Amino acid sequence: MASPLRVEKLDFTWPGGSRALQNCNLELPRPGLWMLVGGNGSGKSTLLRLIAGLLEPGHGHIHCPVKAALVFQNPDHQLLLPSCATDLQLSLPEGLDQHQRQTRLAAALAQVGLAGFEQRPIHTLSGGQKQRLAIAGALASEARLLLMDEPTALLDPTSQQEVLKLIRRLCNQAPASLTALWITHRLEELDGCDGAALMDQGRPGPWQQGVTLRQQLEKTLTPLPGGRAER
Ligand SMILES: Nc1ncnc2c1ncn2[C@@H]1O[C@H](COP(=O)(O)OP(=O)(O)OP(=O)(O)O)[C@@H](O)[C@H]1O
Ligand SMILES: [Mg+2]
Repeated sequence: MASPLRVEKLDFTWPGGSRALQNCNLELPRPGLWMLVGGNGSGKSTLLRLIAGLLEPGHGHIHCPVKAALVFQNPDHQLLLPSCATDLQLSLPEGLDQHQRQTRLAAALAQVGLAGFEQRPIHTLSGGQKQRLAIAGALASEARLLLMDEPTALLDPTSQQEVLKLIRRLCNQAPASLTALWITHRLEELDGCDGAALMDQGRPGPWQQGVTLRQQLEKTLTPLPGGRAER
């Protein structure tokens, strides 16, 4: 199956002079759940923003044949309208009739375990439910690559597990064409991924088994290696 994402020789320097990425190469071998870990300032969020098209690289190429969608750490930053249905409407592709819109919307809610939540006011949802609604929005938009920047950082342990299990299931169920690139500081999350890489000074290392990388980091690196020095 074709790679859902290939990043080649990417450079990016912030206007203030911070060189966030330098000769950054990353290829997701196939659909699935792929995780990036790394110290503060090592360039993880910058990389996701470049892949999402929110930033332009100084040099290099991003090959992404599928639609990508960002899922933020704080769902309150991406849920805009008062009810689940009205918010999801914003994500649906254009050109659908009313019946198709309702069907797509119901399917997206069901995929994230929120079937029947159409009329629920968003402010009544738990943090984990809000994050799952944000994921439903990405699915409704027909994104096949979810760019997840510490999606569980603000969640309690139960909701954290729910969101992780949901993404793992979505990425591994047939037809397995969904991919997530998931940034985390929580090493225990590495156990269930299809591959994990350590980002250091603007460059991801090779893919490893999540469990192996977790054990390596727990043994040798506390805290994780530092980011690139400010320039
Ligand atoms: N908006 C910005 N303006 C200027 N510099 C920035 C901006 N965002 C990030 N940087 C700098 O770019 C470098 C990489 O930051 P980035 O946020 O990508 O790291 P990160 O790996 O996501 O860190 P963390 O784990 O703390 O979220 C850092 O030196 C940071 O200070
Ligand atoms: Mg970050």
